[in-house]
Amino acid sequence: MHPLEQLRDDALREIESARDEQALETARVKYLGRSGSVSAWGEQMKTLAKDEKPIVGKLLNEVRNAVTAAIESRAAQFRSQKESVGLAKIDISLPGTPSGYSGYSGYSGYSRTAAGYSGYSRTTESRGSFHPLTQILERSIEIFRRMGFALADGPDIEDEWHCFDALNTPPEHPARNEQDTFYLPDGRLLRTHTSTVQIRTMQSAPPPIRVIAPGAAYRRDELDATHSPQFHQIEGLYVDENVSVADLKGALEFFMRELFGLGTNVQFRPHYFPFTEPSLEVYVKSKALKKGEEWVEVAGSGVVHPAVFEAVNKARGDKAYDPEKWTGYAFGLGMDRLAMILFDIPDIRLFAQNDLRFLKQFA
Ligand code: PHE
Repeated sequence: MHPLEQLRDDALREIESARDEQALETARVKYLGRSGSVSAWGEQMKTLAKDEKPIVGKLLNEVRNAVTAAIESRAAQFRSQKESVGLAKIDISLPGTPSGYSGYSGYSGYSRTAAGYSGYSRTTESRGSFHPLTQILERSIEIFRRMGFALADGPDIEDEWHCFDALNTPPEHPARNEQDTFYLPDGRLLRTHTSTVQIRTMQSAPPPIRVIAPGAAYRRDELDATHSPQFHQIEGLYVDENVSVADLKGALEFFMRELFGLGTNVQFRPHYFPFTEPSLEVYVKSKALKKGEEWVEVAGSGVVHPAVFEAVNKARGDKAYDPEKWTGYAFGLGMDRLAMILFDIPDIRLFAQNDLRFLKQFA
C-alpha cells in the first residue's frame, strides 16, 4: 500500500469517528490544512523522480478529493442533527398565529367564537378587506348571474360614436357638451355612462343577448357629497323576442329585493333617455334601511329604442338586430348610490379618500 493510501484510510477513519464539529475541524486542519499531511505530500512532489510524478500526482488528487468529500458529508450530518434538535423543541400541536399578527405583545389568550378567533386584537387591524364598492359589485354580479346574465366589458376611453351617436343621441344633445364630458385632445372621451357596452356587445354578437357590464363612468360634475366626476355603474342589456316593460320591471324588482331585502319597494317613474322608449327612472324605498325612508333614485332604464338597433345593424353590415323581430330592455344602475344606501354612507367622496377609519368599517 502506498503511504498516501495509508494516509487516506487514517483520515477517513478519523473523520467518520469525529464526535462533534470541533473534532471534525481538528481533523480537517490535520489533513487538509496549510501544513496538513496532504499538503505536505504536495510539497514532496517536487523531490520525486520524473516518471513517478504523474502516478503520485494522480493518487494525491484522489486522496484530497476523498478526504474533502468525507469532511463535507460529516459536516452535513452535524447540521441536520442540529436542525432536528431545534425542530423537536417546536410544539406542532400549538394553535397557529393568525395572519396579520405582527408581533408578540404578551399572550392574552384566545377563544373560538362564532365570529372567529378573538384575543389578538392586532389581527383584525392589519388584515385586508374589500372596498365597499367592490363588495356591492360582487353581491350585484352574483344576483344577476342567477338571472342568467353574463359579464361584458368595454373601455373607459371611448369614441363619440359608441357613447352618443349609436345611442341615438344627436350632436346638439347637452350631454355632448364640453361642459359635461371629458374630451381628450384627439376627440375621444371618457365614457359618460356604461351604455357604450350595449353597443359593443351587440356589434360583436347576434341576439339573443343577456349581459351586465360593470365599470366606471365620468362626467364633469362638481365634487360634493352626492356627485363625483368618476362614479360606477352596472349596465344591463337583454335582447330577445317579445321582451317587454314587464320583464324589465320584474328583473329590477327582483334585483332590488335580493340586494336590500324583501321589504323593499320599487317605483318606476317616466323619464327621457334618447336610447330607450319608454324610459323609466327606478326608485327604491325600504323601512329596513336608514337611508330608505324616502324614495331614492338608483337607476335609469327603458325599452331599447329601434334607432339603436338600426345603428348597430349599420355598423355590423347586416340585419341581425331587426327591430321588427327583436326587442330588449336596458338599465344603468348607480353603484355608488346603491352602496351608500345599503351601508348608510353619507358622502360619496369617502369612497375615494382611502381613509382607513372609513374603510375598516367594512372589513
Ligand atoms: N345611461 C343612462 C345614464 O347613465 C342610464 C340608462 C341605461 C338608461 C340604460 C336607460 C337604459 O343615466
